[in-house]
Amino acid sequence: MSHNHTAFIENFKKELVIESPGRINFIGDHTDYNNGFVLPTAIDKKIVFSFEKNGTDSHCALYSASYNEKLVFDLNKISNSDTEWENYILGVVFELLQITNKIKGFNCIIESHLPIGAGISSSAALECGLAYGLNQLFNLELPKITLIKLAQRAEHNFVGTKCGIMDQFASVMSEENKVILLDCMSETYRLIDANFSPYKILLLNTNVSHNLASSEYNTRRAECDEVVKIISSGYKTVKSLRDISKSTLYKFKKDLSEKLMRRAFYVIEENERVLQASEALERNDLKQLGKLMYQSHRGLQKQYEVSCKELDFLVDFSEENDQVIGSRMMGGGFGGCTINLIHKDAIDDFVVKAKKAYKDRFNIELTSFITVPSQGTSIQK
Ligand code: GLA
Repeated sequence: MSHNHTAFIENFKKELVIESPGRINFIGDHTDYNNGFVLPTAIDKKIVFSFEKNGTDSHCALYSASYNEKLVFDLNKISNSDTEWENYILGVVFELLQITNKIKGFNCIIESHLPIGAGISSSAALECGLAYGLNQLFNLELPKITLIKLAQRAEHNFVGTKCGIMDQFASVMSEENKVILLDCMSETYRLIDANFSPYKILLLNTNVSHNLASSEYNTRRAECDEVVKIISSGYKTVKSLRDISKSTLYKFKKDLSEKLMRRAFYVIEENERVLQASEALERNDLKQLGKLMYQSHRGLQKQYEVSCKELDFLVDFSEENDQVIGSRMMGGGFGGCTINLIHKDAIDDFVVKAKKAYKDRFNIELTSFITVPSQGTSIQK
């Protein structure tokens, strides 16, 4: 650690500590930006932010313990950086400055306990923790939904991923032992009791993140927009894939390529699955929830084509074990974690076998952890 960083840390006087969690999603991927449904919740792994005002008008300094790097900037001169993590920070501060003039100079120390590129949205945790913290530190009194939306805009405008609302929403709005059924069209949601006993939530991290993730993500978005454009030429009220039924889609079969048909079909079916899954969870039918998770994975793999061989291998491996009642890739895809519902007594044995099989096949270490639905972004107690 350079002398510079040591002095910064030693002189730091914590005024406020914020914890911002990663998220999991039981079902409903690539549905959020199509105005659909998702079923996420926050996890017990977090990024911790310590804040202090530094008494200046516009000087800001943030130290990332994970990267052992410091980002220094002036509130009056914010522009894009070539370093990715810095853009999440700069983007959030920039978006905040568009709606408030109450932010002054501040210092911040960031300690992340979230693996990056694991599909558990360390990016939303970073954006939302910063937005939430500055809202507190400078008494901005912005409602949570405003913080969520500006975090999303930061990602669109500074990072360049045209993400939906799920990750930021889950990171901020989640509550302990609950799962969120979010309607991304109306932005209304329902909290569902998460009672998985005797099953546990096991994340298996492929430890790969193929770099096409961001470009392919934007391509999928564009493909969905294309379908909407074509269908809305005949049906004026259609604004998103949410407004399209399977029968309407079939009517446009000759106007749509086979690929576009598959993409749209996946989204329509995944929305149906999310609703079925939320009902299954409410009546504690975990086997049905699990079945829908497997179906979701096959849709993401074959129709939407955002999986990869490492994720498919793990889901196949889970499906062969009847103690794993549900498994799927999670998030944007092309790497990261699978989420698995596994009987508590089977975990140790399963993880050992999965690690060995994965290592034999790809020569990569598989990592794993058990998680539980947790509180969203909040002040540390
Ligand atoms: C990423 C995006 C989300 C969502 C998922 C896929 O995590 O940030 O908005 O679209 O991919 O469900």
